[in-house]
Amino acid sequence: MKFFIDTANINEIRRAKELGILDGVTTNPSLVSKIGRPYREVLTEVAKEVDGPVSAEVISIEYDGMVKEARDLAKIRDNINIKIPLIEEGLRAVRTLSSEGIKTNVTLCFNSLQALMAAKAGATYISPFIGRLDDIASEGMEVVDEISTIYANYGFETEIIVASIRNPLHIKHAALIGADIATIPFDVFQKIIKHPLTDIGIARFLEDYKKIPK
Ligand code: G3P
Repeated sequence: MKFFIDTANINEIRRAKELGILDGVTTNPSLVSKIGRPYREVLTEVAKEVDGPVSAEVISIEYDGMVKEARDLAKIRDNINIKIPLIEEGLRAVRTLSSEGIKTNVTLCFNSLQALMAAKAGATYISPFIGRLDDIASEGMEVVDEISTIYANYGFETEIIVASIRNPLHIKHAALIGADIATIPFDVFQKIIKHPLTDIGIARFLEDYKKIPK
């Protein structure tokens, strides 16, 4: 399972890199807005920081605008892939971009049929937003399970990025399903490392070590 970090914050990216477990980065306009610097400048900094894939999202929602923006964003660095919203014009853009060798991450996916359409259009990645489905009392992880089955049924190579992850259980369930990638906010990365029994165990070992004759 690959781990991406879902952030545009360079310090968080560096800390995840230092853990030695970082395979890529996903961003979106909301995440970049938190940085308070120009869009392209932030994306350039992020793309230079990592060797793995970095998702950069288009702002247009019309075909021509999406394709133009995508071609421009793809020039930032060769590890950039383009996040395209899962709408009709978006799927057209994905087909065009994939024929030009530009990788795409189809975003804002909320059901498995949308994911099937994205794969048929030639998407490199599909991003089901599971947290946002859970927020409206819909089972986000069921969508991941269905996409995984459908892609396996037909041998689609589109990789599943489990997105809108909010807690460690999301990652566990995604891993049990066998999803290709989880894109994880930095605070959730920290949560999946920690266990209170680990901390208690360390404290006890250190105390007992003091009792060993020197
Ligand atoms: O990768 C998608 C993610 O950024 C959306 O997360 O928490 O805004 O639903 P959230």
